[in-house]
Amino acid sequence: MGLRIDGNTKIVGIIGNPLEHTISPMLHNEISSMLGINMVYVPFCVEKEKLEEAISGLRAIGVVGFNVTAPYKKDIIKYIQDKTKGSLLMGAVNTVKNIEGRLYGYNTDAEGFVRAFYMHTGDKFLKKKVTIFGAGGAARAIAVKLANSGVSKINIVNRTLQNADTICSVVNDNISDIAKAYEYTYEGLVDECRSCDILINATSVGMFPNDDECVIQSKDIFNKNQYVYDIIYNPSKTKFLNMAKDSGCKVMNGLGMLFYQAIIAYEIWTGHKFSDDELKKIYSLLDSMY
Ligand code: ATR
Repeated sequence: MGLRIDGNTKIVGIIGNPLEHTISPMLHNEISSMLGINMVYVPFCVEKEKLEEAISGLRAIGVVGFNVTAPYKKDIIKYIQDKTKGSLLMGAVNTVKNIEGRLYGYNTDAEGFVRAFYMHTGDKFLKKKVTIFGAGGAARAIAVKLANSGVSKINIVNRTLQNADTICSVVNDNISDIAKAYEYTYEGLVDECRSCDILINATSVGMFPNDDECVIQSKDIFNKNQYVYDIIYNPSKTKFLNMAKDSGCKVMNGLGMLFYQAIIAYEIWTGHKFSDDELKKIYSLLDSMY
């Protein structure tokens, strides 16, 4: 890796539990190494009852910032002094910057989704109709971000209608009255989905090792002009994406979102603006990990 630690090394890291499978330390340390930035990224596996203490400790030792992952993206909010309006509506913070002991919270997951989408398609969200499957943390962050990006309609389809309703209320009451909740059993669902420009799987259904699972059973929800996105990146093509591809849709997996949430966090911490060449190099590195 070629990373050297000395008396000037800055520290960033990630708080979560468990952290065995996170690739963020490898990715961020490779980026620092590549850019020649004297910063090291460390995993901090924290028990729930020690979260507050851990945050005080990180502040006390003057870390530059840290990422936050499951299960603390919600819990972290109460320990942060400054949050973006977006992250408050998303109900989740995944990136924290420490400026002289004051903690600033951001959500780079949703921003990562938007940048990945734009890089892949060259298209923006203005006036687009979107259906999101799932109503967990990822779905909420994406729904808020898309509503703020000018989409004209957001359908949230979920197993538990109440969870979809909660996201719709956040969007409709705070941004724009464009979101509607559905169950998978809704009889008009196929037509509703087929009339959309973008379909997004924001559930974990179809993730390794359950590759044979899919949130929907019928290919009829797809039309060949759609962009179809899956936040899952392992496997690189889920059953959902394979069905969409067979129907002629343009498909994208979640690797781009994973990539850009890291890039944006790095930009927030260091102020570094990545060149296209740097982005390409880092992306191929990430791609080679899967
Ligand atoms: P995250 O915060 O990472 O988005 P999450 O909060 O666990 O993850 O959300 C997972 C989403 O996938 C939820 O909307 C969940 O549906 P419920 O709200 O009904 O729990 C959805 N999900 C998980 N397993 C599912 C399954 N087998 N079929 C359909 N939806 C599923």
